[in-house]
Amino acid sequence: MQTEFCKQLGIEFPIFAFTHCRDVAAAVSQAGGLGVLGAVGFSAEQLEVELKWIDEHVGDKPYGVDIVIPGKYAGQGELDVEKLEAQLRAAIPDGHREFAAKLLADHGVPELPPEEKARELLGWTAATAGPQVETILKHPKVRLVANALGTPPADVVKEIQDSGRLVGALCGSAYHARKHAEAGIDFIIAQGTEGGGHTGEIGSMVLWPEVVKAVAPIPVLAAGGIGTGAQVAAALALGAQGAWTGSIWLTVAEAEVPPPQKETLLHASSRDTVRSRSWTGKPCRMLRNDWTEAWGREDTPDPLGMPLQFMVTADAVSRTHRYSNKAQDVVFNPVGQIVGSMNEVEPVRDLMLRLVEEYLEAVERLEALTPEV
Ligand SMILES: Cc1cc2nc3c(=O)[nH]c(=O)nc-3n(C[C@H](O)[C@H](O)[C@H](O)COP(=O)(O)O)c2cc1C
Repeated sequence: MQTEFCKQLGIEFPIFAFTHCRDVAAAVSQAGGLGVLGAVGFSAEQLEVELKWIDEHVGDKPYGVDIVIPGKYAGQGELDVEKLEAQLRAAIPDGHREFAAKLLADHGVPELPPEEKARELLGWTAATAGPQVETILKHPKVRLVANALGTPPADVVKEIQDSGRLVGALCGSAYHARKHAEAGIDFIIAQGTEGGGHTGEIGSMVLWPEVVKAVAPIPVLAAGGIGTGAQVAAALALGAQGAWTGSIWLTVAEAEVPPPQKETLLHASSRDTVRSRSWTGKPCRMLRNDWTEAWGREDTPDPLGMPLQFMVTADAVSRTHRYSNKAQDVVFNPVGQIVGSMNEVEPVRDLMLRLVEEYLEAVERLEALTPEV
């Protein structure tokens, strides 16, 4: 299973785990894969706390961090966070906030206590991601940084590479993969439409080999729909240097997902997801529920762009998370189509070992088809 990219990073298995949960990130790296912490929801100060914790729990293993600097967003170019936030707030129509508030009230989701006000502007602008990068580069065990939703700016690419780390970016088409390659990044993650979170329209089976061909010899990691070792084998068979996974780590024992939300995920089928702009402003795959349906109707407000829509919905994300037992019909539940196969809670280590065993079984099945010479 050792690909060249594994060797470059010093990891045993070509299995990469995107997660917002530090326990999962550390456990995946400990088990021989590479845990990648999603930084978007953390301020630079909170991120420092999370990374310090991982450093202390990951032993001598490497790990990664994922940031989000979109190629296009409202307010782009403004690097002063306060000015950017004020400019964006002024651009939000009252009707959007009222509609979101009414949806939660109609579903009986309580308000947040005043001291817990939600952060509206997350790390998904150059202004807010910049301080995160500074934080990341202070942690030597972080060996890889990935960027979502666009090619990272040239100065960010240079800063990460000059520090001796690998920098990569996600894409949903060969067109965007070529843009990444032109920017000189070290690896590319090709995410098929079936994946959880922000995702394009092309299925993994078609996308992965297209991207591998478009950017060769740059290593490509395959994402979108991977939940078994046979799917890891398929990714490698199609030319990828590793499997980049996200959804399957939401239901592991170590994941800090509220229990009612975990139950919803464990019972969902592969037909229950939808690509919706209703939470973040960009198409994102999540479980369909009353919230996604309400924002999708003709007679309701059209979701705003990024990062405006999340400034409208930040309060709802926090409330539905905090009062999870009352909010399953309107919760933000990003996950991919593989959710239909996520039916039991396993510890990270067991899931990793299962992926490796299933990979070996798949390879043996194929070998048995080849007559001996
Ligand atoms: C809950 C969730 C949140 C995600 N957030 C991000 C993110 O902030 N940045 C990012 O690069 N990818 C994000 N992704 C996408 C993952 O990095 C990964 O590409 C995707 O989950 C792969 O498809 P899969 O879900 O079928 O495994 C997210 C995925 C999920 C499930």
